[in-house]
Amino acid sequence: MSAKSHNYGAVILAAGKGTRMHSALPKVLHEVLGESMLAMVAAALRPLCGDKIWSVIGHEAELVQACLGDRAGSFVLQKEQLGTGHALAAAWPQLEQAGLEYVLVVNGDTPLINTAALGEFTQKALRDQTDLAFMTLALENPASFGRVLRQNGEVKAIVEAKDYDASKHGPEPKEINAGIYFLRLSSIGPLLQKIGNNNKSGEYYITDLIGLGVDGGLNVAGLPQDSAPEQVHAFLGVNSPAELVEAEEALRRSVVQKLLNSGVLVRSPQSVRISPLSVIEPGAEIYGPCEIYGKSHIAKGASLDSHCWLKNTRVAAQAKIRSFCHFEGASIGERCTVGPFARLRPGATLEREAHVGNFVEMKKATLGQGAKAGHLSYIGDASVGAGSNIGAGTITCNYDGVNKHNTVIGEGAFIGSNTALVAPVSVGKNALVGAGSVITKDVPEDALAVARARQANLARTIIAPKKD
Ligand code: UD1
Ligand code: CA
Repeated sequence: MSAKSHNYGAVILAAGKGTRMHSALPKVLHEVLGESMLAMVAAALRPLCGDKIWSVIGHEAELVQACLGDRAGSFVLQKEQLGTGHALAAAWPQLEQAGLEYVLVVNGDTPLINTAALGEFTQKALRDQTDLAFMTLALENPASFGRVLRQNGEVKAIVEAKDYDASKHGPEPKEINAGIYFLRLSSIGPLLQKIGNNNKSGEYYITDLIGLGVDGGLNVAGLPQDSAPEQVHAFLGVNSPAELVEAEEALRRSVVQKLLNSGVLVRSPQSVRISPLSVIEPGAEIYGPCEIYGKSHIAKGASLDSHCWLKNTRVAAQAKIRSFCHFEGASIGERCTVGPFARLRPGATLEREAHVGNFVEMKKATLGQGAKAGHLSYIGDASVGAGSNIGAGTITCNYDGVNKHNTVIGEGAFIGSNTALVAPVSVGKNALVGAGSVITKDVPEDALAVARARQANLARTIIAPKKD
């Protein structure tokens, strides 16, 4: 029987505050290599469940929704956070309404979970015709995880760490609950209202479904996952800053290793942080330390010197990025050279062979093919034609205090140093603007514009210093 023939969706439990993070930010918005934990869980589920994903949110619900939009599927509000069982119950009516046969439930704080592991788990649960399956891990230190109780190999219950009592439950098992469940709606629905809150936390635990299911004669299975040190992070929940950093470091190492294996020259593999969503082509070269986030793309033959920070930025083949650059939402063409110390903000586009040098900032602006802005400039809301030269200290004055305005510079223009271009304004093709000009009117093609006070050389009057 294949999983595809079954109608299943997913619920992500993401309403908790995350008290152990000691942060004002809801836990599931905390990021791992630049991606929120909730977005990562949803991305792992998407290939299996498509748009049949419901995220249960509660603490700072509006903020979570605003940050994630439709990336976390549909949202269900859990008004009060009374526990994971209560969170599932909040989503249940929508799951029934959607006509689901099964639901995959994942804790929203499991950022490294991947589609392959979820897919295998789901397939196995379906093959074995379980009513309730959950993932388990074997940990030397079961820490705050729920303990899995078995008798003669059969699952009996999950007991939460706080509620574990060796005198009652026996010696502590090393098998723990990973917080990922696959439930048959028709069997589990009737058990939801039987979950109580008579425990140390006073919460309604989803994990009580295991004992309730066993008592009700259902087919309940704890499915052990690969608990080898390099694999286990895929299944571990993140509750504290230390665990967040541990998960992030595990992912970081695995991303860098994959890149090295594919043929990317990562020269300082220990100090490069690259989002799993970014694409780095074999033959690209990265010196460290560098950070590359979001859906960035670095093409083959491009090189990135140390201390660069990139987000959602494209760097085309053979482009050279020197040290200390900061790019967000930028696009850098083939054979461009950028930096050191350049800042490209969203909408900055460099066409092939363009050059941006030190202390140049660009925003919503295009540098045409082979155009140059070598030093100390701000180019915003502007388009600069191919082959133009922007002199040191040139500023596009794009903001009048209320609105933003555009500057258009034609091909082959030469803007002298320390020019202020007061937008809206245009400089025609092959025009020359004298250094130190304040350009407030359009400059025609091929013209020389000089807009500064004429120099006057006057006789110097020397005033003798007073004697006491
Ligand atoms: C939970 C499990 C534990 C398991 C561990 C795996 C329970 C009772 N315990 O413990 O057995 O070993 O995960 O990582 O489920 N949430 C809500 N609403 C709530 C409370 C929590 O949506 O009212 C969400 C949280 O945002 C979080 C997830 O549920 O993403 C798990 O909650 P958390 O408090 O982290 O549970 P653990 O103590 O880690
Ligand atoms: Ca947790």
